[in-house]
Amino acid sequence: MTDLVRLALVGCGRQMRQNLFPFLQRIRGHQVVACVDPDLSLAREIQALTADAVCADSIDALDLGTVDAAVLAVPPEPSYELTRRLVERGIDCFVEKPAGPSTAALEDLNRVVHDSGRHVQVGFNFRYAETLQRLHELTRAVRATPCSVTIDFYSRHPSAPQWGVDTTLEAWIRHNSVHALDLARWFTPSPVAQVDAHVIPGEPDRFQVNLFLRHRDGSLSTLRMGNHVKRFLVGVSVQGTDGSRYTAPSLERVTLDLSAGVPLGQELHSTRNLDDGWARSGFGPELTAFVESCRRAPAARLTGDPSPAPEVPSVADALAASALCDRTMAQLSATGGNGFAALAHPMPASAQAG
Ligand SMILES: NC(=O)c1ccc[n+]([C@@H]2O[C@H](COP(=O)([O-])OP(=O)(O)OC[C@H]3O[C@@H](n4cnc5c(N)ncnc54)[C@H](O)[C@@H]3O)[C@@H](O)[C@H]2O)c1
Repeated sequence: MTDLVRLALVGCGRQMRQNLFPFLQRIRGHQVVACVDPDLSLAREIQALTADAVCADSIDALDLGTVDAAVLAVPPEPSYELTRRLVERGIDCFVEKPAGPSTAALEDLNRVVHDSGRHVQVGFNFRYAETLQRLHELTRAVRATPCSVTIDFYSRHPSAPQWGVDTTLEAWIRHNSVHALDLARWFTPSPVAQVDAHVIPGEPDRFQVNLFLRHRDGSLSTLRMGNHVKRFLVGVSVQGTDGSRYTAPSLERVTLDLSAGVPLGQELHSTRNLDDGWARSGFGPELTAFVESCRRAPAARLTGDPSPAPEVPSVADALAASALCDRTMAQLSATGGNGFAALAHPMPASAQAG
């Protein structure tokens, strides 16, 4: 391998053009050598912005001997198939979430990646958002004991069935709520022992989804999510048994709302405004981590330790998030969207309601 990681960009659609490629342009240590998309006009659009990459309508048309690593932003089915083939050919991969169309496919991919010893990172970018990294660090001690984590994750898309998934709700859960589920697992690694899910329907194809994950150590993750809102929003708060509450209400700042149960409102962190989303979105840091891992990978393989650093979102994380999507869908279908096992005698919320 040359000093620069030779990258193939696979799938030159929206995510590649709007996020991944622009952030890659700001990162050193790599060279884009190929742009691949069955729609060659999309591949050429990106090729025109590179030094001397080739264009191809399929990875079959590439000389893989000229490629060290691939960045994939394709629909879930080809994500699985292409990543599987590329790692088997000795290529490290960054693959966008959800990384596969089903839990079974991700189980297979996880096994193949493990056997190949290649480095594969999944695009759960919010783990790399500066504010959430800071919140994660600041709450490390609080999260060592059972805690309560609340995640708001609102995104208007998808608002129609997508990529072979029949309903908008399931498409939203499988393709978007995986981000929130991944964050829940990252903040509270204790295994999930119980899932309660319910949906509040709005206009056609718009909904709010509430999810409660009870973890084995007693922690609770509450996920308030949906596509019913006007704009994209991610927020996380962590409440500890010591009476502290740390809040990142958006991707801009972290405050200590409560300290030992006393209202404080102290600002602990705020993002810079002039970095074009580098710190806020996490896309820049996650791609930097990928390129750096690819540069270190040959040496790591020689010393027999090719495993990714524990904090790198892996196919195992995508698999765990997919299993939680399955559990959420199963709960919603078993209960007609209500999600809770109905009480035989509902408890009145007020004397009048009874
Ligand atoms: N991390 C995030 O925040 C985020 C945001 C948006 C999308 N994504 C993910 O990125 C991926 C792509 O989403 P998108 O919005 O760019 O979709 P898109 O439909 O705009 O782009 C997908 C591209 O993949 C191409 N493609 C399909 N099969 C291919 C193959 N076999 N080889 C090469 N290219 C192929 C298509 O022609 C298309 O241009 C999805 O996995 C999605 O979940 C992630």
